[in-house]
Amino acid sequence: MQKKLILKVVSFYKKHPKRRRTAIAMLFLVVFFGLVFKYALKGIKKYAPRAAVATTVFLVCLIAPRSITIGSDEIVQTGQEDAVEADNDNTEVFDSVMSEIEGGDIYSVELPDVQVNILPWNLILLNSETPLPDDFSFTGKQVRSGCVVDERIYDSLMDMLSGARAAGYTVFVCSAYRSEDRQYELFDEAMDYAIKKGMSDSEAYDYAADQYSVPGTSEHQAGLAVDIVPLRQQILDAALGNTEEEKWLAAHCAEYGFILRYPDGREDITGISYEPWHYRYVGVEAAGYIMENDITLEEYLEIFYPNHVNWE
Ligand code: DAL
Ligand code: ZN
Repeated sequence: MQKKLILKVVSFYKKHPKRRRTAIAMLFLVVFFGLVFKYALKGIKKYAPRAAVATTVFLVCLIAPRSITIGSDEIVQTGQEDAVEADNDNTEVFDSVMSEIEGGDIYSVELPDVQVNILPWNLILLNSETPLPDDFSFTGKQVRSGCVVDERIYDSLMDMLSGARAAGYTVFVCSAYRSEDRQYELFDEAMDYAIKKGMSDSEAYDYAADQYSVPGTSEHQAGLAVDIVPLRQQILDAALGNTEEEKWLAAHCAEYGFILRYPDGREDITGISYEPWHYRYVGVEAAGYIMENDITLEEYLEIFYPNHVNWE
C-alpha cells in the first residue's frame, strides 16, 4: 500500500515538472527553516557558517535556470512553463510552434491590403479636419487685382477670366492667397460681429466657422482658391449665386479646372455655407467629374482616392 502510494507520487511529479519544482522548493524551505530554528536554539554563532551554506544552496536552487524536458529534446526556457505543461504529451504541436518561431514564419502575418493614396498638389483636401502642414509653401504669381495665386493655376485662371469677359461679363478676383494671420483676422472679425449681435462665444465660433475655414485649414492659404465677384456686385452673400456672372462661372469653371467648392445644400459635407464666389482649382479631369456629377471634392476623393492623405 505504502509502496503504491510512493509510486503514484513519483509518477505524478514526473508528469508535472512545474509542480515537481515547487515541491522541491518547498522541501528546501522546510529543511532551511528547520535548520534555522535548530541553530537559533543552539546558538547562532556556532552554526553561522552552516546557516550561510544552507542559505546559499537554497538561493541557488531558487534562481538557477529552469529546464523543461519534452521528449528527448531539452529546451531551456523561462516563463513558458504553463504552456509547455499543458502540451506535455503533445511534443508534435510544440515542435511545430518552435520551428515556426525559428523559421520566422510567425512574423509572416498578412497585413490588410490598404493602399494609402497621396494626393497630387491640385487635389489636396483642406477642411476643418485636414490642416496645412507648418512648412507648406508654394510659388505665387500675382493677378491684375493684386491677389496672389499658386503659379501653377495662374494660366487656367487667366483663361477662365478671359472666357467670362468674352461672354460679356466683367468679373474680378477679390481674394486669393491669404496668410494664416489674415485668416485669423477674418475669423476673429466674424466672431466679433456675432458676439455684438448677442451670440455666446461658442455660438459666435460656430457662426464664424460656417463662413471661414478655421485658420490653418483654408484653401486660400494654399493659393489654390479664388473668390470671384462681378464688378457691379461685390457683397459676398448667397444672392451672388443669382447673378449672371456667377451662373456663367458655375457652368464653365470645370472647363478651366475649377470647381464651385462650397455648393448650396452640401454644408453637411464641406462644413462651410454656400459660397457662390469661391472657386478652387483641382485640374480639368477632376473638375469635370465633380461639376458634372454635382458632388463635392470630399466625395470625389472618396471615390477615386480612398484612404487618401495630403502629404507623405
Ligand atoms: N471662406 C472660405 C471657406 C475660407 O475661409 O477658406
Ligand atoms: Zn474663398
